[in-house]
Amino acid sequence: MPDDAVATAARSSGDGAANPLREGLASDRITNPCSAVFFGASGDLFKRMLLPAVYAMRLSGTLPTDFALIGFARTQYDDDGFRDYCRKQLEQFMPDGQKPQGALWDDFARRISYITADFNDTRHFTALKERLAQNDEQLGTAGNHLFYLSTPPPVFPEIIKHLKLAGLDKDAAGWTRIVVEKPFGTDLESARKLQSVIEAVFPENEIYRIDHYLGKEPVQDIIALRFANTIFEPIWNRNYVQNVQITSAESLGVEQRGAYYDNAGALRDMIQNHVINLLALVAMEAPISSDADDIRNEKYKVLSAITPPPHAGVWSMSARGQYGPGTIDGHAVNGYREEPDVAPDSNTETFAAAKLYIENWRWAGVPFYLRSGKRLPRKVSEVAVTFKPIPHRFYGESTDRIEPNVLVIKIEPDEGISMRFEAKVPGPKEHVRSVYMDFNYGTGFGVQSPPAYERLIGDVMLGDQTLFTRWDAVERAWEIVTPILEVWQNTKDFSFPNYAAGSQGPESAQALFPDWRHL
Ligand code: BG6
Repeated sequence: MPDDAVATAARSSGDGAANPLREGLASDRITNPCSAVFFGASGDLFKRMLLPAVYAMRLSGTLPTDFALIGFARTQYDDDGFRDYCRKQLEQFMPDGQKPQGALWDDFARRISYITADFNDTRHFTALKERLAQNDEQLGTAGNHLFYLSTPPPVFPEIIKHLKLAGLDKDAAGWTRIVVEKPFGTDLESARKLQSVIEAVFPENEIYRIDHYLGKEPVQDIIALRFANTIFEPIWNRNYVQNVQITSAESLGVEQRGAYYDNAGALRDMIQNHVINLLALVAMEAPISSDADDIRNEKYKVLSAITPPPHAGVWSMSARGQYGPGTIDGHAVNGYREEPDVAPDSNTETFAAAKLYIENWRWAGVPFYLRSGKRLPRKVSEVAVTFKPIPHRFYGESTDRIEPNVLVIKIEPDEGISMRFEAKVPGPKEHVRSVYMDFNYGTGFGVQSPPAYERLIGDVMLGDQTLFTRWDAVERAWEIVTPILEVWQNTKDFSFPNYAAGSQGPESAQALFPDWRHL
């Protein structure tokens, strides 16, 4: 099948082509021709997330027909061996109906190649340069080069240095973009160091710092909820909002990632990036347009209005926990200290909570509660905005039983928006009770949200930085968490493990805020 026919077949094979609910969806977002180089292509992230995302783009027709994928990693493969490896991973990680097969796979496969490489050997980067030139000539990739750093972060500086030495930092004919996986540094100082290495080679408009939460549909919808409607913004402030709770809870433990996680902990792993990004979207002022930098200016501005807790205030503004043995979904599970590659006396937190204030006109006095943890009873990511109680005792004694309004932006596993409000119970009495208005993506639009990585890789190919974190915001997020990190790191917690797997988290979190939403 010729290239165009392959893409068209892929596009029209999608279900629901005639579904009116799908009108306006960007299924025709075809990106620029390019070669995408995945550093660390033999690793976990590539096989589980990145490769399936690229292949799904191929299936939906959003990948340019003139595309090439180059794996660059230590594990030994030749081109055919790596193609075979990719096929096996796709068989495992693509859903039924999207497994690699037929002309589509054959065309995709011939565009895959591999370089067995040492990240600090200049010759391998020279080989990469030759391969890219060959792709440009034979596969029409037009001098556009996407470099995706999905290796462990300590290797990033080596790769960047060698890209520069090999003259791969720019191509006269096309664009060059570099994608940097999280974590961006392990603390403020190391993040600044990494930034200085990257910015010596690539300008900010070529750097894509990925935070996959920003690629989740309901997270993108925070902007639409706030700025494509008129009814929410007038009450989105200290006059009406009692508090904001941002939760990212998981029932999984650290799985096979103990070696990484034991040096990270929940504050670095989730709060500094995903959760603070959510906070910025929920709390920022209205950007003057939907352009990437107008949005990112506002995100930075609101983060700069947060005063990091003083060292002496850390204990009253935060809570930490570590899970012990317990039960999840009826199954007994190990405690954190029994997980593979975790120190038996580890002081690493698997649960982190913090209370932050935004010191600006809109939010003065409104607490923002953030929490994230592993081995909590269920997977749930959400933002809950709780409004103030009614202003007078309209129902006499019963006024105390009236629940405040809560607007919940549901990120996962449910995707949607729900609003709790009070309604009269039918009957002769003046009873009121909480009811819900629920919007759900699946039924609202008749489609499943595309995985975050698919959206984000597509945005890199299109040169759209909106959903990527700019350096100023990354640095500010590190500044906000630094006092907490330092105090926690320097103080051994003798109560660890202080919550059972499957419980609501440590008691210290309840002391920080008794009204956490039940998990
Ligand atoms: C990653 C963290 O960034 O996000 C993991 O490193 C965590 O520890 C994961 O499990 C959660 O992502 P999601 O999309 O499953 O909520």
